Amino acid sequence: MATASVRAHWSNRLAFILAAAGSAVGLGNIWKFPYITGVNGGGAFVAVYLVCILVVGLPIFVSELYVGQRAQANVVDAFVLTHRPGTPWRVVGWLGLLSAVVILSFYSVVGGWVLDFVMRSVTNQFVGHSDEEIKGMLGTLFASPGRQLLWHALFMGGAMAIVQQGLAAGLERWSRILMPTLFVLLLLLLVRAAFLPGFGRALEFLFTPHTEQLTAAGILEAVGHSFFTLSLGMGAMITYGSYLRTGQELTRTVFSVAALDTLIALVAGTIIFSVVFSFGLEAGSGPTLMFQTLPMLFAKVPGGYFVSVAFFLLVAFAALTSAISLLEVVVTYWAEHHGKSRGPTVLVAGGSIYLLGILSALSTNLLEGVKVLGLTFFDLADKLTSSLLLPLGGMLIALFFGWVLGPRAADEVIGGRSRAAALLLVWTARVLAPLAVLVILINALRNW
Ligand code: PHE
Repeated sequence: MATASVRAHWSNRLAFILAAAGSAVGLGNIWKFPYITGVNGGGAFVAVYLVCILVVGLPIFVSELYVGQRAQANVVDAFVLTHRPGTPWRVVGWLGLLSAVVILSFYSVVGGWVLDFVMRSVTNQFVGHSDEEIKGMLGTLFASPGRQLLWHALFMGGAMAIVQQGLAAGLERWSRILMPTLFVLLLLLLVRAAFLPGFGRALEFLFTPHTEQLTAAGILEAVGHSFFTLSLGMGAMITYGSYLRTGQELTRTVFSVAALDTLIALVAGTIIFSVVFSFGLEAGSGPTLMFQTLPMLFAKVPGGYFVSVAFFLLVAFAALTSAISLLEVVVTYWAEHHGKSRGPTVLVAGGSIYLLGILSALSTNLLEGVKVLGLTFFDLADKLTSSLLLPLGGMLIALFFGWVLGPRAADEVIGGRSRAAALLLVWTARVLAPLAVLVILINALRNW
């Protein structure tokens, strides 16, 4: 088991915020949020998602960081060190490892799709092409298993290379430039989208809740996504928190990362649905949504060539900074707990996750007809984690924080500034957050 003295730490507060934001902001915001919002009918889904971020996401976020920070250890040992040797709470760590492996396996496949679209942007395949042609482009990638596996390999290789270097200082420098650039580019696209005829309908679709559209499964998907998008419920934030020096302030970081993450998702959603309603596309068309809508927009904006290259490069980078936080959970555990060196661990972990991801990659072609529990491997990996393992893990982490670590931990998090805030945190972690998740899980299971 590791001791605090041998561990690396973030070089400063900004480095940590960038890393946490890098983990949170990714495909979840730009690819997944818009498409599941479309599938679930819009406003009511968004409202549940926003409430979940506030009520469930924020307290669990701060709990995870605190557990990691206090333990200065990987996702499994963190529970042992903050509780006692042999504690059954270790199981939460193991669940987290499982989630990390399964999420990264399909995340890397979608990361590969993004790389394919970087290539298409560079070779100028959007500007001057018809909407129909653009709509079919992801389909041509799906029809080519070899090409998909190659991009999947490149994406995973990139994540492995970065994790290999440990708490990479280089990454910090890049994040400092690229994350704000992504944000600015999204704002510019938002301005362009505001001039599209479908902009008003997009806002209405996203922000007017029609409760009758919401199903039990939809509510669970919104809860699950609030975990997915903030990288919660599986130990990424425990692991990142473990590289924080003890005593460093947590709440402001949590608020800023959650606010930024939510804002980026909403902006991406607004842009994408403006295109959907302007060009008569299907809001509920599923995982292909981002890959069909945005290139259509790029084909119509001035400097579309450069905009598309920049956009897909930035999304690839955002996806990469999320992927490394997933891989880091597994690698840190294996290297630290089993005393292995980092290099081989990265190779074995990354290689195995790549192989598992092949099942998801082939779900769009060779294995399209193979269903487990009625789902393709790709959907199974996504649903199993987002709609089950992450909510479950998050609920357990909240209970651990609230009941095992208790009021003293909450006081430490709040820094003794407000008794009321500490009480609110403890009781949200003890009862409110776990109960909300439990009710929604049971309700969805009953309907399923
Ligand atoms: N939060 C990341 C995203 O939105 C995905 C992720 C989930 C990363 C869980 C780490 C852990 O893209």
